[in-house]
Amino acid sequence: MPLIAVLPGDGIGPEVVTEARRVLDALSLDLAFEEAPVGGAGYLAKGQPLPPETLALAKRSDAILFGAVGDPQFDGLERRLRPEAAILGLRRELSLFANLRPATLTPGLEDASPLKPEIARTIDMIIVRESNGDVYFGEKGHRTGLGGVREGFDLMKYDENEVDRIARVAFDIARRRKKKLCSIDKANVLETSQLWRDVVNEVADEYDDVELTHMYVDNAAMQLMRDPGQFDVIVTGNLFGDILSDQASMCVGSIGMLPSATLSSWRSTLGLYEPIHGSAPDIAGQGKANPCAAILSAAMMLRHSLDMAEPANRIDAAVAKAIAGGARTADLGGTLSTSAMGDAILAHL
Ligand code: NAD
Ligand code: IPM
Ligand code: MN
Repeated sequence: MPLIAVLPGDGIGPEVVTEARRVLDALSLDLAFEEAPVGGAGYLAKGQPLPPETLALAKRSDAILFGAVGDPQFDGLERRLRPEAAILGLRRELSLFANLRPATLTPGLEDASPLKPEIARTIDMIIVRESNGDVYFGEKGHRTGLGGVREGFDLMKYDENEVDRIARVAFDIARRRKKKLCSIDKANVLETSQLWRDVVNEVADEYDDVELTHMYVDNAAMQLMRDPGQFDVIVTGNLFGDILSDQASMCVGSIGMLPSATLSSWRSTLGLYEPIHGSAPDIAGQGKANPCAAILSAAMMLRHSLDMAEPANRIDAAVAKAIAGGARTADLGGTLSTSAMGDAILAHL
């Protein structure tokens, strides 16, 4: 029986993962679940954000259902002990390099988007964010420069193999969609981006059927608001992908709507599934969080890691029907609590 590592984490993480679990349980699938502490919860329980037992569980599981990590009370700790080190450590240790973040407007949510309804309605894209490299994992630190001036630095770096493998993931996805791939970089200024662009162009030779374009990240941020319907598949680095996906989430109504899958090069069916949002300390413990992103992440898990497309489609359809029927948490302009939103989705399963 497939084993799911359930890592709820901090803040609203456990709140939204609870709803995802309720939905999975309602489907009566042949799945085993094992829960472990991670993030601030891991630090409190075991003295580390990614306790060895939690990492071991993730490694022997078939898929990881992740909530969110982060808590301001730990922001003063040294970096390796902060909650965020847990998700970065999992991505790194399990070679979870391809972070897929689909953004599609769910019909009915036009009003929740700050964009004009006729623009919001055109959004149907997937952001392929590299998640094993870039400034996130380069040399970093603090030092004292000339004249005793304090400096902080983070090296931005990609090697050609890292760009090659994420480009292939993106081209393969584009091939199964509208065959349009936009690579987003900052090649007009950054050498890292120049290499990125060169390698993406080389890989493109093997994908004649996909139309490849390049765009600078500043323009991309603007185009996401002006004409988001122009994007089908986006491929970009870790930092740009982090930022652009939060922006894309608001274009479709709320950050509480965007799920993600992070695929591994270590074991091809392994994946980590999490909402793109964080632990939302401002609303944690109040039952206000939108659980849709976590529930849709569970659907991505069934589809990508467990070869269970039928129940995955049922989850997607149930979320769409609940939204079409008017179910809304506060972020979407409604009044439902997290669990009431979960109830509305369960009612349509
Ligand atoms: P955040 O995504 O947690 O919250 C940003 C804003 O969106 C907040 O106002 C929050 O209330 C709202 N929001 C987020 N998710 C929501 C949901 N499901 N329903 C309704 N509203 C929602 O980002 P932040 O405030 O910048 O970061 C908070 C903490 O989370 C930090 O410690 C950060 O490092 C961490 N973080 C973790 C992850 C992760 O675990 N993968 C992702 C992003 C941020
Ligand atoms: C995300 C988060 C993480 C990231 C943080 C918490 C390390 O913002 O998953 O989008 O920057 O990748
Ligand atoms: Mn982020």
